[in-house]
Amino acid sequence: MGSLSPPHAWWKSAVVYQIYPISFFDSNGDGIGDLNGIHSKLDYLKDLGVDILWLSPIYRSPLADMGYDISDYRDTDPRYGTLEDYDRLLKGVHERGMKLMMDLVVNHTSDQHEWFVQSRSSREDPKRDWYIWRPPKFDNEGKRLPPNNWKSVFQGSAWDFDEKTGEYYLHLYVTEQPDLNWENPTVRDAVWDVMRFWIGRGCDGFRMDVINIISKTEGLPDAPVVDPDQYYQPASMYFANGPRVHEYIKQMNTEVLSHYDLITVGETPFTHEASQLAAYVLPKNKELNMVFHFELMDLDSPDYSPLIHKEWKLTDLKDVIQRWQQYKRDEGFWNAVFIENHDHSRSVSRFGNDSEEWRATSAKMLSILEITQTGTLYVYQGQELGLKNFPRSWGIEEYKDVASQNYWKLIKEQRKKASGSEDVDMSDLLDNFQRKARDHARTPMQWDATSHAGFTAGTPWMRVNDDYPEWNVSAQVGDEESVWSFWKRALATRKQHDVLIYGDFMMLLPSNEQVFSYTRTLGDSSALVVLNFRETETSVSVLEDAAVKGFRFVLGNYAGVEKGLTSTVTLRGYEGRIYIK
Ligand code: GLC
Ligand code: CA
Repeated sequence: MGSLSPPHAWWKSAVVYQIYPISFFDSNGDGIGDLNGIHSKLDYLKDLGVDILWLSPIYRSPLADMGYDISDYRDTDPRYGTLEDYDRLLKGVHERGMKLMMDLVVNHTSDQHEWFVQSRSSREDPKRDWYIWRPPKFDNEGKRLPPNNWKSVFQGSAWDFDEKTGEYYLHLYVTEQPDLNWENPTVRDAVWDVMRFWIGRGCDGFRMDVINIISKTEGLPDAPVVDPDQYYQPASMYFANGPRVHEYIKQMNTEVLSHYDLITVGETPFTHEASQLAAYVLPKNKELNMVFHFELMDLDSPDYSPLIHKEWKLTDLKDVIQRWQQYKRDEGFWNAVFIENHDHSRSVSRFGNDSEEWRATSAKMLSILEITQTGTLYVYQGQELGLKNFPRSWGIEEYKDVASQNYWKLIKEQRKKASGSEDVDMSDLLDNFQRKARDHARTPMQWDATSHAGFTAGTPWMRVNDDYPEWNVSAQVGDEESVWSFWKRALATRKQHDVLIYGDFMMLLPSNEQVFSYTRTLGDSSALVVLNFRETETSVSVLEDAAVKGFRFVLGNYAGVEKGLTSTVTLRGYEGRIYIK
């Protein structure tokens, strides 16, 4: 009980590894990763230094949004395995001293969930009010319109009309993901029961999908028009961090979380201000342990789409990291440190340099960036190998994600209409997708140099990245110089030095556009971190002569670094170093 407030906690020093089950390892040759596949790789994860596994959804699902559309919360999808396979996996995890976190997706269900099937069956059905149903609006000509102008995150209107009962239901994501009505207390009770079901089976915590959008502004008002060419407008101001969200999460805490010692992390998109997210995290509020904020992940796209690339500046990245590293530490605010997950392209392609020459070095440098921040550390499958985006030569048919496909269709239609021609140039959009699509994180894990990277004996559900003959687990595990071996050392280094997990963060050289440098301090222990974000060599004066005394080099991505620290440090391309005293 009461794991929310101690300054040190198991879930703070832990390393979480996110598994995207469909692409991790296929044990039976049907091309789909599965629970038994994960089970067979537990020693691999333990060896890397992982403490907690987070599984992206494994529940029964039509996979309209890759399992984030759940049709039965109390069963695994047969493609991933049975509940017995789940129990066996969990046992294997616990036997190795690791823990397991489930993905809790309760803003919406699948439209195939029996709750929704009943809800849509008639206006009088007892489950009608479990979802958000509204009558149509009509314009002056009597044309039927959705109840408001909200845009869905992945398509046009956030509303879908049900012919049979003559009303619209709300879906903030795709049509197949109807939003639950959290205002109904029975819905909340049903969610608490789902949580207790998995806790009862032995799971150790939850990552809560888009948990900050469960409360919508009363009256569901029209969103302001920011794009006059469109009818549907972004409406997150009316559904993100809504009026009753904290009441709901506090209730979740009282009813469920407070009775167990769990790890909890909320996914909180549409919000950049730390002050807005603080309420979910501050221990005095008794809500969640931490959240995934979106400020860093949104750095390289314009507001209108995460699938479009925008140039970013190192000083912007530094500001974001500094702000969150320092935010309300005195009040117990705790970070979730991550740079990759299943919703973003690969970090080495975004923030490092994925060319032949610099890929491994810059992936290691980014590993140092991660392991030297305060917060619970998250590593995404394949990040430990330096996996990168798939190539520009792959056509749109290789992009399986509904977000990519829907955006592509939307833009193509717009262009066809504007030009009056069937044949429109889409190459610029493919340029952007190559940098930004979620698909890059979802290609099968690269285990070895055999066909399909050893991921499956059959045909993989998604094409394996072309570089697998060289970039794979089997090639990297035995190689001391590999990205994998570096990550293993880096995770061990973090565990040896509490200052890296808990220390105070102070930025040095704030306006430098090439080098990110900071110190961490905990009691009389200090760490100094220097990271070069470019190919070119550079020299920086980080500390005064008097202050360098006692610092010893503990980890870096180049060989032959002197043990002692001097006030001026010369860094080679993408070099990163940690000194500790
Ligand atoms: C979260 C998930 C993402 C999913 C969306 C809708 O952002 O991480 O993959 O598409 O929620 O459930
Ligand atoms: Ca399988």
